[in-house]
Amino acid sequence: MEALRIISEEHRNLWRLATTIDLVADELDQGTQVDPAFFTSVFDYIENFIDRSHHPKEDDFLFRLLRRRSAEAGAIIDRLQAEHKNGPENLKALRQRLARSAAGGEASGEFAEALRIYTHGLRNHIRSEEKDVIPLARETLVAEDWAEIDRAFLDNDDPLFGEKAKAEFRELFHRIASLAPDSIGLGGHSAGELQPGAAPGAGRTLLKVSGVESCYGRIKALKGIDLEVNKGELVALVGANGAGKTTFLRTLSGIQPMSAGAIHFDGEDISQLRSDLRMRRGICQSPEGRQVFGPLSIEDNLRLGAYTRPKGQVEGDLEKVFGMFPILKEKRALPAGTLSGGQQQMLAIGRALMGRPKLLLLDEPSMGLAPLLVEEVFNVVKTLKAQGMTILLVEQNAFAALAIADRGYVLETGNVTLTGSGQELLSNEQVRAAYLGM
Ligand SMILES: Nc1ncnc2c1ncn2[C@@H]1O[C@H](COP(=O)(O)OP(=O)(O)O)[C@@H](O)[C@H]1O
Ligand SMILES: [Mg+2]
Repeated sequence: MEALRIISEEHRNLWRLATTIDLVADELDQGTQVDPAFFTSVFDYIENFIDRSHHPKEDDFLFRLLRRRSAEAGAIIDRLQAEHKNGPENLKALRQRLARSAAGGEASGEFAEALRIYTHGLRNHIRSEEKDVIPLARETLVAEDWAEIDRAFLDNDDPLFGEKAKAEFRELFHRIASLAPDSIGLGGHSAGELQPGAAPGAGRTLLKVSGVESCYGRIKALKGIDLEVNKGELVALVGANGAGKTTFLRTLSGIQPMSAGAIHFDGEDISQLRSDLRMRRGICQSPEGRQVFGPLSIEDNLRLGAYTRPKGQVEGDLEKVFGMFPILKEKRALPAGTLSGGQQQMLAIGRALMGRPKLLLLDEPSMGLAPLLVEEVFNVVKTLKAQGMTILLVEQNAFAALAIADRGYVLETGNVTLTGSGQELLSNEQVRAAYLGM
């Protein structure tokens, strides 16, 4: 019955997509321009994954077998299959309206209305499958049916929400994550019945760094950094090896001395504060190279991350981190040194989360990982962001970091040379030449 979990997860994701589309339709009503790239990405996803994979698998496996076992299923399935069949045509009509609307030939209000009709249909369809089909399937299908259905669904590769998410859908995921966040149970803001919700106080300045300098002996590694992070934001700091990224994060944590400038956090000047007190204020870092304690158990590594927290919170937080990284729970008693590189990175992030960060500092979480694991780590970062966490992400992997960031800063030998939205920097010629190899 693994397929049911996958189908329901895909429904939840589609629901988030519908919520996102509705919110963007509201923006259109308020006068925002139609963004063809956003809608093309939405429609491409629906066409490629929903219409060509999710629906056919339901038709060919779940529905076919259910018809065979249950007489009452027939009528419901007839209706749902007719909706599947109409999917591509409805989508084509929406694409045509998008083209007309983008060209100014149709009022954006009419496009918004067509979008709402589409999402309304989508939601009804999902509700009916969840309410009518899935309970019936649970009751009537037998083990050999499930084996067949599971086989079909297990090789699903959702290019938007899946583990192997594709680069071309990153921007769309990011939009969904910020408009219709999904709670992963770390105490962040929940999307509730898949309703949108921003982190409390979102948009307020959380970190303000002005003119920060730091030296190693006579060598100035940071030459006057100005940088801000707003509450709920994911900010990327990208730059080549040796640019000063790690020095900057260590200066924020208070491990590295600062020779000039000021750091304000949550309205307080923390420039003179000791590092453990900064951690108590909610600045928690996952260090470069992970630095987990190899001989200690995974669980004890996580507990170390909570040393500034009241004892009463620790057990609950541990369970939340385990909920987010089930592999760590499974291996909780083993030495951390037995974990793979990717798992150690999850542990390092989990350890930082145990400090209940208000600002999570991540130093090159993708370093040294195979491409597929890099994707997974970035999915974790996206999920944390979606849940309302404020994050400063330091990366040499500029493409992946900027693609999921709200804003970015480019650091070159101790100076910030460029700043802008993640998308602006990604399309900036200088950045493309220097960091993206384009
Ligand atoms: N412990 C140290 N002693 C002396 N110089 C250092 C030390 N750590 C880093 N540096 C120098 O400071 C500069 C910035 O390094 P770092 O912050 O590690 O860069 P990044 O994290 O961007 O790769 C580099 O020139 C590096 O050689
Ligand atoms: Mg570094």
